Amino acid sequence: MLFSSRLPESLELNEFTKILEEKKATGHKILDLTQANPTTAGFAFASAIPLPSISDVSHRYEPAAQGMKGAREAIRGYYRDNKHGLIDSDDLLLTASTSEAYSYLMKLLTDPGDEILIPAPSYPLFDFLATLENVRPSRYLLRQDAAGHWRIDFTSLEQEISRLTRAIVVVNPNNPTGSYMTAEELKKLSDLCQAHELALIVDEVFLDYENLGGPEKPCSAIASDTTLTFTLSGFSKILALPQAKLSWIHVHGPEPTKAMAKQRLEFIADTYLSVGSIIQHAAASLFSCQGAIQKEILDRIQANESLLLAEIGVDPSLREGGWYAIINLPENVSDEECCLDLLQQSSLIVHPGYFYDFVESNRIVVSLITPEEDFRQGLLLLQSYLNSQHDR
Ligand SMILES: Cc1ncc(COP(=O)(O)O)c(C=O)c1O
Repeated sequence: MLFSSRLPESLELNEFTKILEEKKATGHKILDLTQANPTTAGFAFASAIPLPSISDVSHRYEPAAQGMKGAREAIRGYYRDNKHGLIDSDDLLLTASTSEAYSYLMKLLTDPGDEILIPAPSYPLFDFLATLENVRPSRYLLRQDAAGHWRIDFTSLEQEISRLTRAIVVVNPNNPTGSYMTAEELKKLSDLCQAHELALIVDEVFLDYENLGGPEKPCSAIASDTTLTFTLSGFSKILALPQAKLSWIHVHGPEPTKAMAKQRLEFIADTYLSVGSIIQHAAASLFSCQGAIQKEILDRIQANESLLLAEIGVDPSLREGGWYAIINLPENVSDEECCLDLLQQSSLIVHPGYFYDFVESNRIVVSLITPEEDFRQGLLLLQSYLNSQHDR
């Protein structure tokens, strides 16, 4: 075979995408409850943020593998001003996206065939990010406790640690369960990483989107220093600017490992030098828009969550943070069947739980940043579908 086995054998469209393409081609209006692109979701800030322009670029190119000092100082200010913790800007390394940050970390920590531990349910891109680096993703479970809150199942996590495991990935708060890592979980994770010589990777892109009515307060891993810890974040969610292409890795942990990790990451970044200088120059002024951006998003999330409670009866107090909501289907309805039916019959898009590796097969996921009117109309269609399933 000419092509690498890191890529999927088939890149043909799946059944869902084929139906969707057909619907679009025949002029059907699609109602999409999975809209997660903040630049097209009808937010006022999206056209008001003062973005830098090409004329802001200097004629002089000053490559900086770690990222420009000014941009790293602005990020240090973000952690301080939001009371997430105090950091040294020298411990930051800039990347073009969080996805790129993961790829750098896998280059840093793994050899082909090694494993990283990823949560299930969680962000669907991990499989691709790992296999493109010749790394095998193995999964530990998040489970709902008696009160319905999603917590790390440490028994399943410890069972999955093998001699090939190099790192544990945590998403804080997790997508789509919305669960924050607790201080107690962070301590246990650090202990496990120390005992097995693993690195801890904590993805905090949704950290600021706390559900104020939720039970858990955000706990950042940024100050965690007992084990080698990489904390990731970026503009795509914090400032709802995925097009800006600015993310970062914060490196913390005991010396000399930390210094060695930083040196090696800089070597990797120097090979690509992928972060544009225009956005780095603009970082400080863009952070000044954070309050207004996050307020508009949080207001939307709250409004949609109220609709979700009123129309479908989803309890908002279980969601601790993030942009997503989980809807439980009746036991006799599968996520796959539901998503295909909704698309076929009502031109409505929701995500099946299996996208996110739910153990349960009767979960669907919707985005709470969907424009409110779309969300309201979509929930009515979903409700009438669920009613028809109850009567089945
Ligand atoms: C948990 C998580 N991490 C990272 C990302 C992507 O971030 P970026 O656009 O910076 O690659 C997403 C996107 O939805 C996400 O859900």
